[in-house]
Amino acid sequence: MTHWSLLGRRVLAIGPDLPALARGPLFGAALELGRLERLGEARAETTDLLLIDADGADEAALASALAELASQGAPPPTLLLGSRLPASLVRTLLRLPVSDVLETPFSDEDLLNAVYALLDAAGAQASAAAGPRSRCWTIMGAVGGAGATTIAIEAACALARRSRKDRSVCLVDLNLADGATAAYLGATPAMGLASFGPAAERMDAALLAAFATPIGKGLDLLACPRDPQGFDEISREAVLRILEIACEAYDHVVVDMPRHRRGWTLEVLAGSDEVLIISELTVPALLAARALSEEIEQALPTGARPRIVLNRLASRMFGAAPSLAEAERALQRKADGGVSSDWDAAAASVNLGGPISQHRPKSKIVRDVDALVERIAGREERRAGAAPRAA
Ligand SMILES: Nc1ncnc2c1ncn2[C@@H]1O[C@H](COP(=O)(O)OP(=O)(O)OP(=O)(O)O)[C@@H](O)[C@H]1O
Ligand SMILES: [Mg+2]
Repeated sequence: MTHWSLLGRRVLAIGPDLPALARGPLFGAALELGRLERLGEARAETTDLLLIDADGADEAALASALAELASQGAPPPTLLLGSRLPASLVRTLLRLPVSDVLETPFSDEDLLNAVYALLDAAGAQASAAAGPRSRCWTIMGAVGGAGATTIAIEAACALARRSRKDRSVCLVDLNLADGATAAYLGATPAMGLASFGPAAERMDAALLAAFATPIGKGLDLLACPRDPQGFDEISREAVLRILEIACEAYDHVVVDMPRHRRGWTLEVLAGSDEVLIISELTVPALLAARALSEEIEQALPTGARPRIVLNRLASRMFGAAPSLAEAERALQRKADGGVSSDWDAAAASVNLGGPISQHRPKSKIVRDVDALVERIAGREERRAGAAPRAA
């Protein structure tokens, strides 16, 4: 997971002009204005980010304060702002474990990109020391009815089976108006966010636990009751905060993501470790999958590339459905996975209420989603150098 929001982040700002940022790009952060003398005592446990305006400080005093900061145990991530920063100052800054410089003037976006990169780097360092970090997979359909919800549910179940731990996976339904995950699982959605109003932005782990519906061993669901105004009643900050807390509480978060872009869509995608676009094998769906994937690649600064998964593949193609080779030509790339068609298993499971892996464990859907999850999660584990899962 990367950082989703600055809500509640403790930022120590050194420089008289910096408080204005709290009303702009750093909105939501707990910004404290400090003097240069405070630098030496800043610690990562109490400060999430140090922001220093070098143009407003005496160069020699700033250099010695930075040297003092670098010499202590756990300095917070530090961003130095300024124009024509002297090399000697930058060299001192580089002695800090996590730091960056930003040339003034800068745009709000430049500042936020630098801040998120620093928070992510600091988070990665902390979690490398603490053990494996949580992973977030976001699943969205290229067109309506492509199977995003079905695959999100089965992928979450497959991850929970792999982990064999309590509370290891959280399925989050961000279709805030009429999400289908709870109905498909025969569960009661408990995330009544609309009644919380702005308090939803201050969500904490205890409240989130009260909103979670247990589905099975290792798997919880966060889904809202049906509400036609659902998207308008919950702020962007609340959505990002919920995901952030879910990522702290669970090893894996799987997001059933609406297809249409919302105020929070790009941040959720940018914070995801994997984005899966589900397509079916029709020409309009394949073209939509390609377009959606390109839109995401262009919009994200992270350079992330969504994976395309073809759903409802028939073992023998009758009629006019494109072959896999034709599908990949339309996509202009290889598909990253395929899930077989099994209407009987899919319909039986939604009618009975529960995952296909529970009602029809031998279905090809379960086999194919398991293989997809194994491939992606296995690759993640190898990359992280994590020990293989328990047999
Ligand atoms: N591999 C499959 N084989 C057979 N039926 C499937 C398969 N995947 C999904 N389905 C069925 O297709 C229908 C649509 O699936 P689903 O609701 O998961 O799609 P979606 O992309 O989430 O749709 P929406 O755009 O409404 O969110 C459901 O009836 C589901 O049971
Ligand atoms: Mg759906």
